[in-house]
Amino acid sequence: MRAIPTIPQSLAIDGGAPVRETLLPYARQSIDENDIQAVVEVLRSDWLTTGPKVEEFEQAFAARVGAKHAVAFSSGTAALHGTAFAAALKAGDEVITSPLTFVATTNCVLYQGAKPVFADVCSGTLNIDPDRVAEHITSKTGAILPVAYAGHPAEMDAIMTLAEKHGLTVIEDACHALGAEYHGHRSGSIAQMTVFSFHPVKHLATGEGGMVTTDRADFAESLCKFRNHGITSDARERHASGAWFYDVEFLGFNYRLTDIACALGISQLKRLETNLGRRREVAARYEAAFRDLPGIAIPREREGVKSAWHLYPIRVDQKVAGVDRNRLFRALRAENIGVNLHYIPVHLHSLYRERFGYKGGEYPVAEAAYEQLISLPMFHGMSDRDVDDVIAAMRKVVLHYSR
Ligand SMILES: Cc1ncc(COP(=O)(O)O)c(C=O)c1O
Repeated sequence: MRAIPTIPQSLAIDGGAPVRETLLPYARQSIDENDIQAVVEVLRSDWLTTGPKVEEFEQAFAARVGAKHAVAFSSGTAALHGTAFAAALKAGDEVITSPLTFVATTNCVLYQGAKPVFADVCSGTLNIDPDRVAEHITSKTGAILPVAYAGHPAEMDAIMTLAEKHGLTVIEDACHALGAEYHGHRSGSIAQMTVFSFHPVKHLATGEGGMVTTDRADFAESLCKFRNHGITSDARERHASGAWFYDVEFLGFNYRLTDIACALGISQLKRLETNLGRRREVAARYEAAFRDLPGIAIPREREGVKSAWHLYPIRVDQKVAGVDRNRLFRALRAENIGVNLHYIPVHLHSLYRERFGYKGGEYPVAEAAYEQLISLPMFHGMSDRDVDDVIAAMRKVVLHYSR
């Protein structure tokens, strides 16, 4: 660990030397030789897609999260679309979800012609507030779609209880939360359907890729058909039986994940525990280094929850920190710390403003958080030196402005 300078240095944004020579990204994948070997083996095999690696990945994944079924998709977005279809969402239905998420969460509702209805978030975790969810339940509600923001599960006990009371399906967007735990249950085993993403910034990377986990055999069957044009059997089953006949039962898509990607997924899944451990270490070092920084609020795990630490979103209170989020963001970028922002609340995007008439001001907690958020680099491949650099840059910049 390097010593953190005590003599005030001029900020890189003001012409001083940056903490790092090169930009540290906010997240990136880690690929090792086993991953490469696994992919090469598939490239030499008979099946590049719809082959045996798909089922192998699905089974290993289902076992890891404690679900009966896992269905692989070509992306987390495609997987979300699959869940919206399997939950039979249709025009006229409403889905209650969080405004503070990536737009894929809510676009999947639009794909089915249904309407997302936002419920504001809790100010601590920035996850959907169950009390606000309850206020929005009507006869039109078709599902509740909580998001595990930054890797920290939402209040799933309260959400599942509400859903049960009203006979609603819960689809959890756990694209940030592979490996998270909530009151002894793993993300992926709590809601009726849970969605994961394997985009390179996530805990497990397959390039593009996604998964739905569920205990319901009917959902799993419908998801399998949906990702394959609505066809009743897949190519490998027909290959094995020598049969050519199939039927198209409904309008599906080609949302299949290749064997190449699944082989990478199987290989990466073996390192999940180690990678989660590394993310926890980084979070612990950040916590120790930032807890005394004036005007900076850091993310914290609620009692009984293990975050998967996908993101590390801090919040800047301008009045105390002496600097606003935008200036702090630019100052950290100038120090070559690749900060990012998660998220512009969905209802503020043009598509949602124009289609549903949102104007801003409807979800005060999410909107206030958005004005304050900065995501610091957080990924399992971070070296100690990378972590030192983020800490040094944060302390240098924040202490400069709060002096
Ligand atoms: C919360 C959330 N939901 C859904 C998605 C979509 O996943 P994908 O990029 O795999 O389509 C993402 C991706 O970043 C996400 O962060």
